[in-house]
Amino acid sequence: MKILYVTSEAVPFCKTGGLADVAGSLPPALAEQGAEVAVVLPLYERVRDRFGSQLKFECYDYVDLAWRHNYCGLFSMEKDGVTWYFLDNEQYFNRGTLYGQADDGERFAFFSRAVVRMLDHFKFWPEVISCNDWQAALVPIYLKDDGVREERYRSIKTVFTIHNIEYQGRYNPYVLGELFGLDAGWVKDGTLLMDGDVNLLKGAVLCSDAVSTVSPTYANELKMPYFAHRMEGVMRQCSNKLSGVLNGIDMKLYDPRTDGRILKHFSPEDMTGKEDCKAELQRMVGLREEPHTPIVAMVSRLVSHKGLDLICEVLHDMMELPMQFVVLGTGDQRYEDFFGWAAQQYPGRMSVRMDYNEDLSMAIYAGADLFLMPSKSEPCGLSQMIAMRYGTVPIVRETGGLKDTVQPCESWRDAGNGFSFANYSSGDMLHVIREAVYLYKDYPDVFGRLRQRAMSCDFSWARSAREYLRIYATITGQTWPIHSDTRRAVEIPEEETAEEPAPIVEAAPAEEPAPVEEAAPAEEPAPVEEATPAEEPAPVEEPAPVEEPAPAEEAAPAEEPAPVEEAAPAEEPAPAAEEKPAKKTRKTASKTASKTAKTEKKTVKKTTAKKGTAGKKKSAE
Ligand code: GLC
Repeated sequence: MKILYVTSEAVPFCKTGGLADVAGSLPPALAEQGAEVAVVLPLYERVRDRFGSQLKFECYDYVDLAWRHNYCGLFSMEKDGVTWYFLDNEQYFNRGTLYGQADDGERFAFFSRAVVRMLDHFKFWPEVISCNDWQAALVPIYLKDDGVREERYRSIKTVFTIHNIEYQGRYNPYVLGELFGLDAGWVKDGTLLMDGDVNLLKGAVLCSDAVSTVSPTYANELKMPYFAHRMEGVMRQCSNKLSGVLNGIDMKLYDPRTDGRILKHFSPEDMTGKEDCKAELQRMVGLREEPHTPIVAMVSRLVSHKGLDLICEVLHDMMELPMQFVVLGTGDQRYEDFFGWAAQQYPGRMSVRMDYNEDLSMAIYAGADLFLMPSKSEPCGLSQMIAMRYGTVPIVRETGGLKDTVQPCESWRDAGNGFSFANYSSGDMLHVIREAVYLYKDYPDVFGRLRQRAMSCDFSWARSAREYLRIYATITGQTWPIHSDTRRAVEIPEEETAEEPAPIVEAAPAEEPAPVEEAAPAEEPAPVEEATPAEEPAPVEEPAPVEEPAPAEEAAPAEEPAPVEEAAPAEEPAPAAEEKPAKKTRKTASKTASKTAKTEKKTVKKTTAKKGTAGKKKSAE
């Protein structure tokens, strides 16, 4: 399968957040599973500076967008089995920062238009284009536009992945033609219109063949006003093509057995190295060297959705517990002020570093005992997985990927890998922090086993890559993957294979002719959710759609609770071409669903949705 992965950042080239980690790891993991993968990124100044000498110049061409006719250079680099392409236009990308500029809309419109324009110059014509976040949201839209005239564009299927729905790419509709080179019909029929704005993310969700997000719980949360930043109606309408695939982490990079960035190595079998790392951390950040006092840590951007208000409310109660507290991160002034002040109140017991510092963050993961993430919302979250890998037991609020990766400790039966609380309440948070601190102090053996379980979790990318491949296979109607025995033997540990009675091959059309074949020829958003059950990410206990016992029916207008845009003339934005096959898909979906129901036990839990918060008009971080 030929996959083009479109992203605005990727490790090691350029990074502002978790998207870069995902885009740096997932494509190589897809390639390891046998897919042909290319990634395309803008050629930012920092990429040119640091990697320029390793890049190969391929060619250049011109990209037409509205009245503009712009140069676009193409550079490439082979790495980890993947071709990394960089699109060059100095006017747009040769700048010190990635985002947050007045012309971001124009810059990423150029990027998306150039991706489609340059397809001829890539090493293959992709079967799937996998686009990430609003910066690449115009790609599926331009493909539809071009597909009107040219069949070869229609042959490409698209997946759009939402890493954080807060950032939607919203613009005044009058820029539609000028900036994005699109016809007014895109706004008139409602596809791009939302609350009076052009909304790129909405357009991508409607135009893509499948939509994914970064954890199963977040996929469900996106249908609720509390989490969806006004997109809940659209997400519910598209629930038949929405799925949540849990991110992984780079298990080789983050390995306490071998990591060169930490003071001493350790493993679940031999934790003595962690004691040294703890003493080292205490020295580094000015905490008292007390080996038996648990260190609670936070490594986080200091912004509101990380749940910092809860900490502000009960910090003094927390500090009455026999614990130390270390915080690393930068962010909003009010939190920086608060934490700076608080640290002065507890010298030797609380330490705050307003910084982003890779070395210190690794020292914290390795040296701390408990890792606090009380997020209001968290699409996936990577830090809790990294912390677990280094035996730092997470304390999280049950939201998004935090809920999917952390199962609360049940010490009476030695189960769970962390601590969690459900309500966004400082009292509830304090309660579990207290529970964790006393488990550490009073029952060190029980805590030790909990720590071992956390360290043994499998957060490898191979698992996520297989789920993405299943989505790609579903929308392209392919049988995928066909592994040689050797490949499977190397990549999938025995127990994992045993846990997965229905490998991807079995879900392929050859064995289930009806569903996929029906979906294949059209541009149909296939019922991805229904096609992925066999390989739910390991730690997830509740993968089932929270309020969606019958996803296919949710899409019916009658059940659509709150149309997103009453004002839009043709509220129902799904392009006409997609309407017809939808019925077929519903049949298919329910067929698949009933099959699925037999093989899979789903635990459905009600999640409490709080009142919606108004969407913020943000374009990027
Ligand atoms: C965004 C989300 C974060 C997720 C990351 C990678 O940064 O906020 O939760 O882990 O994307 O998908």
